[in-house]
Amino acid sequence: MIDQQTIGKILDASNIVDVVGDFVTLKKRGVNYIGSCPFHNEKTPSFTVSPSKGICKCFGCGAGGNSVNFIMELENMSYPEALKYLARKYNIPIEEKELSEEEKDQKSKNESLRIITDFAGKYFNESLLKSDEGTAIGLSYFKERGINHEIINKFQLGYCPNSGSAFTDTALKNGYKEDLLIEIGLSKKGHSLFDFFKGRVIFPIHNLSGHVIAFGGRTLQTSKKIAKYFNSPESPLYHKSDVLYGIFQAKRAITSTDKCFLVEGYTDVTSLHQAGIENVVASSGTALTSGQIRLIKRFTDNITILYDGDAAGIKAALKGIDLVLEQGLNVRVVLLPEGEDPDSFARSQSQTSLMEYLNSQETDFIHFKSELLLKDANNDPVKRADATRSIVDSISKVPDTFLRNEYVRTTALIMKIGEDVLNNEVRKRIHKQIEKANHQQFNIAPSEPSIPQKTVKNKDLDKFGKDYFQIFEESLLKYLIRYSNNNLDIENDLHELETKTVAQYIFDELMIDEINFTNEIFADIFLIAFEQHRKTGSINQQFFINHSDPHISKVSSDIIASKHELSILYEKQNIIVEQESQKLSELIPNVIINYKSRSLSKLSKDLEIEIRSLSEENNMNDIIECMTKLAKVRSAIKQMSKLTNRIIP
Ligand code: CTP
Ligand code: MN
Repeated sequence: MIDQQTIGKILDASNIVDVVGDFVTLKKRGVNYIGSCPFHNEKTPSFTVSPSKGICKCFGCGAGGNSVNFIMELENMSYPEALKYLARKYNIPIEEKELSEEEKDQKSKNESLRIITDFAGKYFNESLLKSDEGTAIGLSYFKERGINHEIINKFQLGYCPNSGSAFTDTALKNGYKEDLLIEIGLSKKGHSLFDFFKGRVIFPIHNLSGHVIAFGGRTLQTSKKIAKYFNSPESPLYHKSDVLYGIFQAKRAITSTDKCFLVEGYTDVTSLHQAGIENVVASSGTALTSGQIRLIKRFTDNITILYDGDAAGIKAALKGIDLVLEQGLNVRVVLLPEGEDPDSFARSQSQTSLMEYLNSQETDFIHFKSELLLKDANNDPVKRADATRSIVDSISKVPDTFLRNEYVRTTALIMKIGEDVLNNEVRKRIHKQIEKANHQQFNIAPSEPSIPQKTVKNKDLDKFGKDYFQIFEESLLKYLIRYSNNNLDIENDLHELETKTVAQYIFDELMIDEINFTNEIFADIFLIAFEQHRKTGSINQQFFINHSDPHISKVSSDIIASKHELSILYEKQNIIVEQESQKLSELIPNVIINYKSRSLSKLSKDLEIEIRSLSEENNMNDIIECMTKLAKVRSAIKQMSKLTNRIIP
């Protein structure tokens, strides 16, 4: 743990122009700097750095933030890793927080395990490349499979001698402890201690920062009785469900192509790399898990499942689709010709024809499922219905309402079915999932679902899938942080003009009706701003940009870095800035009224639902409390509609 004071020092020392300048050639333009975005390919530079604000921002792809956010995103580092990087850059000694005895023990044990896996990785690699047995057996095996030297080095492939305990003996001689060698799964106890991976070629498994944390070992024997692969057991370093083979070697390519291929095996990953496809990882051995998908989500939202075209591959792909959708990512599928896995297929094709195949065969999950399930249907209505049902099952896993609607639209077209029918089915399933979750959580019997029969368009979503609440919340924060001390002329209830600062006005308005932001980070930022304003009478932009919580610094940099604000060099846009700050008395009340009316009507609907369910339980006290709240909300709504001369739905 790095202590707060040191974090502060690092943030203060970091000069955004320096930090970005290490990776991007920057040119001065007015008060800012501009260069080509390192996060996406672009022809005209649009990556802008503002030294005065301490932030950078790409107006093409949205990447950016303060120095820490920039390093985290670019180097795929965790928050502490990015801080350490900057500390090294600016020669700031890192003072880590004192650990408890227990934490120290665990930490030193993990450190020892890490040193052992590191040692083993090097040992296996050297034994492959330098020992007589390794070159004769291991290296010629890889050669035979067409794996070249570059790939052997990149993935640190290795060989474990077949003698029984050659590795374990060397490790013990080097002072590594027997119990740790056993715990990490490198040595096993039989009559005596022996090498778990003896006589196997080794695929080391790296974590995100490139440390070896586990191994897969392939036998060189062809007997069906011997397990083809041995894998390291779970350990403090290796949580299988959160690890993907190849993620370290793939992460940059995943970011730059904004896409990740998902395959099943070690050799699939290495062969695709050799064929020039580097954005690829494998679940290797374990069935795909949600933790693994979340790991990919740190780099891209787009996963393409690349499996064998046999029955097992198709089954795995179908499972994978739902799992990826559940985590809110986009999923596409490529099936290979039967009998081929990505490894054999990549080696049988030229690089161009491999790329062509992948590009032309890649389908979204709806087309994939419908083609697969309708293959032998011959317009059989029962089979068609089954196919539709299966697609609807998948769609109902998607957390984002807007995206679900898009998928429904596509399915309606492909399956030639009304959107209303599909929407109803999706909603039924979602309802069931909620009931099930409630049931599991509170152990209550599921009640009859009440499903609205008419399709209602979701009015709370804009065309980017953000909900309206969040859009308003973001604008309010923008006004709050950018213009906190600007004066507003506001007409009060008595139709008199009153002058308030932007901050005072926004706080007053939202506090009266006890409205809480729906987006967690926005709500955090709002509360911090409120506290700061209460204590100091103003709001400090820099405090938010350099906040020690990287989520807060990232989101507030985004809010502060508007295109118009940062690109002050462009005259035209400069005019827009002036317009925005001059129109605040009009803009802000407008946003407030819109936001409040939506919040209040949502609040009243939620209360109505709560009252209905409370009355089923005959819970009088709570009902009365809710009714009182509802009455208050309704009168606030009336007030609002008088104010705006319109009825709120
Ligand atoms: N696997 C495993 N244990 C096994 C078999 C397979 O852990 N006994 C895992 C390995 O990660 C393997 C993946 O499942 O890479 C896919 O298995 P398979 O297709 O059988 O192996 P390939 O990767 O094709 O290996 P090879 O090409 O060397 O046969
Ligand atoms: Mn294979």
